Amino acid sequence: MRRDLREAQAVPFFTSLMSQKKAASDRMEKIVSLCKRRGFVFQSSEIYGGLNGCWDYGPLGVELRRNLKEFWWRRMVRERDDVVGLDGSILMNRQVWVASGHENTFSDPMVDCRNCKSRLRADQLPEKNGQKQCPVCGSFDLTEPRAFNLMFKTFVGATEDESAVTYLRPETAQSIFVQFRNVLEVSRKKLPFGIAQIGKAFRNEINPRNFIFRSREFEQMELEYFCFPNQGFELLDYWLKERLRFYADIGLSKDKLHVHEIPPDERAHYSKGTYDIEFEFPFGVQELEGVAYRTDYDLTQHEKASGKPLEYFDEETKSHLIPHVVEPSAGVDRTLLALLCAAYDEETVTDEKGKSETRTVLRLHPRMAPIKCGIFPLLKNNEELVKKTKEIVELLRGEMSVFYDETGAIGRRYRRQDEAGTPFGITVDFDTIGENGPANRDTVTVRYRDSMEQKRLAIADLPAFLREQIT
Ligand code: GAP
Repeated sequence: MRRDLREAQAVPFFTSLMSQKKAASDRMEKIVSLCKRRGFVFQSSEIYGGLNGCWDYGPLGVELRRNLKEFWWRRMVRERDDVVGLDGSILMNRQVWVASGHENTFSDPMVDCRNCKSRLRADQLPEKNGQKQCPVCGSFDLTEPRAFNLMFKTFVGATEDESAVTYLRPETAQSIFVQFRNVLEVSRKKLPFGIAQIGKAFRNEINPRNFIFRSREFEQMELEYFCFPNQGFELLDYWLKERLRFYADIGLSKDKLHVHEIPPDERAHYSKGTYDIEFEFPFGVQELEGVAYRTDYDLTQHEKASGKPLEYFDEETKSHLIPHVVEPSAGVDRTLLALLCAAYDEETVTDEKGKSETRTVLRLHPRMAPIKCGIFPLLKNNEELVKKTKEIVELLRGEMSVFYDETGAIGRRYRRQDEAGTPFGITVDFDTIGENGPANRDTVTVRYRDSMEQKRLAIADLPAFLREQIT
């Protein structure tokens, strides 16, 4: 192509790239702001200026988290015969981290800028004329890279010396490996079988960023699936498919998910195959979960270091072996962020008076939604309407989270629930209490969050209708 033509085309391309970037960062800002405004996520220790890389989940956030974790547990443990659970401690014997390799190798390369004193990830520095540059002040005066261990060190007991050192766990997986024998004995499972765990993990990330995407305290949902060596590759593909099915079932559409097969030279040394499941966040396509074939590395390491057998006895061949492991490892916080990013939507709607306004709506899957239905009396100063509405609240609250709201115009109340991601609105009106004749007595209006369509339903049918949508 001619150079002048290429340049002429490059300008709009560049402008459109810039405006795409701006739109993505605006979108992210709106999501962060909604999270604070509606009580999904707050900065940790906010009144003291916060603590970088740490977040608190508010009333809506905590419900969303629970729904996500419960659905993972249901899919990965309860619906299967071959997986059992574990809830390991966060603090473990230091030798666990020596044997697993974390004490020596769980580190990021880091440099200091001598000019502005920033501490930076060496592998993420921009380059100018082949020279690494500080992204904060532009200086080239950087120290040599040094390994920075990502584990939080702490002391167990009253003495703060080397013998009392241990770490906050940087992954939940290791307690599964070191409890392998105990769980095998009590569960009497045969290979292949898995041990699942959901729990907190801690990493002293040099550069926590992108809201809750990369934080210093986070939660993982991990499965270690033990198998015979010849089953490893097949199970790696099986678990990749299962995990993609899980994401579809919580409302993350296929076109926002990508599978990246990690090339051999980028994989962990013990891995024979790894897939990253990635999601299109507004700030780029980033890892949501890793599915890795970890071979027999972990059990072998712990058997060697502890001197305790971690083998499996195969009844058929009458021989002992160290099982191999396939590990799907997901982050609660990252998945929650993906759910929020996928669900956030704005649309222009016209109200009853013909006025246009922007409707902000979180199109969360009903299964994940923090509140399943908003329940409203049409008027708050009509005793009978209020009484009937509260009866419906009592009817449903044993099974699901519901929200009673009587303040403001009904349209406003719907909008508040749209922003919270509540999939259904139930309104008790004069038909419900039989004031307009017997035909619609004991029926309510059910409004769908996404389409805003409404239909009438008998109160007695509400539990079954809602159950079908949310389970
Ligand atoms: N046991 C394997 C393991 O921990 P990982 O790829 O380091 O592997 C697994 O972590 C998942 O944990 C990631 O895909 C991500 O979802 C989550 N995760 C890891 N570091 C995180 C961080 N700093 N903040 C939030 N989530 C994180």
